[in-house]
Amino acid sequence: METVRGHIVIGITGGIAAYKTMTLIRLFKKNGYEVKVVATAHAMEFVTRTTIETLSQNPLCVDIFDHGKPYDVQHIALADWADALVVAPATANIIGKYAHGIADDLLSTILLACQCPVFMAPAMNDKMYAEPTVQHNIELLRQKGCHIISPQSGFLACGSEGTGRMEEPEAIAEQVTKTLEGPQPLKGRKVMITAGPTYEPIDPVRFIGNRSSGLMGFSLAEAAANMGAEVTLVTGPTNLVTSHPNIHRVNVETAEEMYQQCMCVQETQDIMIMSAAVADYTPANPAPEKIKKTEGQLTLELSKTKDILASIGKVKRHDQILVGFALETEHERENALKKLHNKNADMIVLNSLRDKGAGFGTPTNKVFMITKDEQTIESDLKSKAEIARDILNVICNINKQLS
Ligand code: CTP
Repeated sequence: METVRGHIVIGITGGIAAYKTMTLIRLFKKNGYEVKVVATAHAMEFVTRTTIETLSQNPLCVDIFDHGKPYDVQHIALADWADALVVAPATANIIGKYAHGIADDLLSTILLACQCPVFMAPAMNDKMYAEPTVQHNIELLRQKGCHIISPQSGFLACGSEGTGRMEEPEAIAEQVTKTLEGPQPLKGRKVMITAGPTYEPIDPVRFIGNRSSGLMGFSLAEAAANMGAEVTLVTGPTNLVTSHPNIHRVNVETAEEMYQQCMCVQETQDIMIMSAAVADYTPANPAPEKIKKTEGQLTLELSKTKDILASIGKVKRHDQILVGFALETEHERENALKKLHNKNADMIVLNSLRDKGAGFGTPTNKVFMITKDEQTIESDLKSKAEIARDILNVICNINKQLS
């Protein structure tokens, strides 16, 4: 399973700047977005289907009546799928059509059907751009909430110099990302997150593990990265995939490996969130060869693993925030408070076991966030991605109080 940062539909219209849009597709893909491209017939005079499909890794859509595709109301499906629609380059024609509600091809139809933020990067000859009707249409689009990414001045493909050159792909990508992801309260902060289970070897083929999927930790990593943090994700074995460029993933298997990796980086971190389900015990003497079955019983001797949360709690500075997780079956709040103080954490996230749909192996969760001053913030039952944002918002508040 892959965590995708968001869905972007890129609309390409017929201008020479369309070649630069190939870089824009590449940038969004590199930054972890899924990209689908819709091009007008005129755009296809400037770029090729092969380039677009290879870069976006999705089929290109041009024709509103594309009979080769499985039946789907394509313009509605794409409009619903998109988290953002970016038209680059945007010709005077598409600007005029969108401003006046004309829908006579796939792209102009999607524009009218979509509810997500729309970005337009105009590109045209300087005289066309300055023409009062074009300027009026751009103003109409601004008024209806469309984000206009203004063209730059410089040398134009038609040979003249003036304002009309499409903004550079890097700047377009940055503006779209900023708008989609909102403020970045963790910009410049380093966040370490542990996730998943640990596997403790019994012999070369067997291990003691647990049912943690890692989803809560991965959702936290994604949310922290989206808030601008530089994330180190130390994870036990899971099928999850990360795509955000700000997440540095460190794979481990055992509690000891997780401990070593965390201790290596903890000193440089601003925030540390221990969401991994670390084994409390590990086989004392893992067998070097596969254990053969015998008639009698098999007894495994287990020794205690190092408690990573408590170890970091012992060395952490006042300007570092340490967050632990707890899963209790009785005296939940009391036990969570004990854990909070004993391990010198700034917050404990208590998983609710009483609610269906919360805890291990579920896509949803419900938690109680208990802070050092013993205040409790209760969440609703919601997706782990939303819970992750709630947890990080509380952490941001603690962070504000520290600085
Ligand atoms: N934890 C850790 N290292 C361990 C065990 C746990 O860092 N070796 C962290 C978990 O990631 C979690 C928190 O400690 O953030 C709570 O773990 P839990 O196993 O519930 O707590 P314990 O201290 O083991 O207490 P108990 O077993 O009594 O519930």
